[in-house]
Amino acid sequence: MRLDKFLSVRTMYSRKELHKYIESGCVTRNGVPMKQANFSVSDKDTIALNGVEIPGTTYVYILLNKPEGYVCSADKPGQKLAIDLIPPTLQRKALQPVGRLDKDSTGMLLFTDDGQLSHQVLSNRSHCDKYYHVTLSRSWKQEYAEQIAAGIVLKDGTHCLPAHAEPIPRTTHEMLICLHEGKYHQVRRMMAALGNHVEKLSRIAISELSIPPDLAIGACQVLNLQDVQKILKKETNFASMLQILRKNS
Ligand code: URA
Repeated sequence: MRLDKFLSVRTMYSRKELHKYIESGCVTRNGVPMKQANFSVSDKDTIALNGVEIPGTTYVYILLNKPEGYVCSADKPGQKLAIDLIPPTLQRKALQPVGRLDKDSTGMLLFTDDGQLSHQVLSNRSHCDKYYHVTLSRSWKQEYAEQIAAGIVLKDGTHCLPAHAEPIPRTTHEMLICLHEGKYHQVRRMMAALGNHVEKLSRIAISELSIPPDLAIGACQVLNLQDVQKILKKETNFASMLQILRKNS
């Protein structure tokens, strides 16, 4: 592949900007400056721009531990954007969040430029499990589990798919819920339909991929292929997710 094309899909820069960088010797292949845009690069080469290595993979998959107060949608002027927490070296033109978390929600937010993976995670037909750790303002009631398993009808008449929820052991106001779909404000609206209110909401896992316990809030990590495969697993284990929350609390 041509050097300028390689860099164009893996960075935020325009072809014109890249040509300037290349001509001025800011781009290296295996440590050696490459001053021509049509030089060819292979998968095995290490390409760096201004001394910073550019990931060579066709697609990039990033897990951000989203803090409160950041929005996922770029069309909200004046708001802090979750995508701006991704370092410049990992930014790419086609990078997008995979689904959304509310401004007040925290936890796992994936970013990728792989449209096919996004579709697989988000489409209701693929039933990708999403796990949320929820703190309620009123205490958990055992009847919630059955009502959620039967499929909640939201206040506006929207029907939710059956889901799975259980209280976090040794707590009174915390629960783990697993959804197989992603409607707008879904967990908040489900709990409102049950007469409760969500105080805090954190996505702890998508399918079998959970947030690494050492990933600080606001930090991100590049996922490897094994991680990406975990995202695509159809069968997940609720009990083991509950165990993760127990360990981390
Ligand atoms: N459900 C919600 O209500 N909010 C989120 O951010 C995610 C799921």
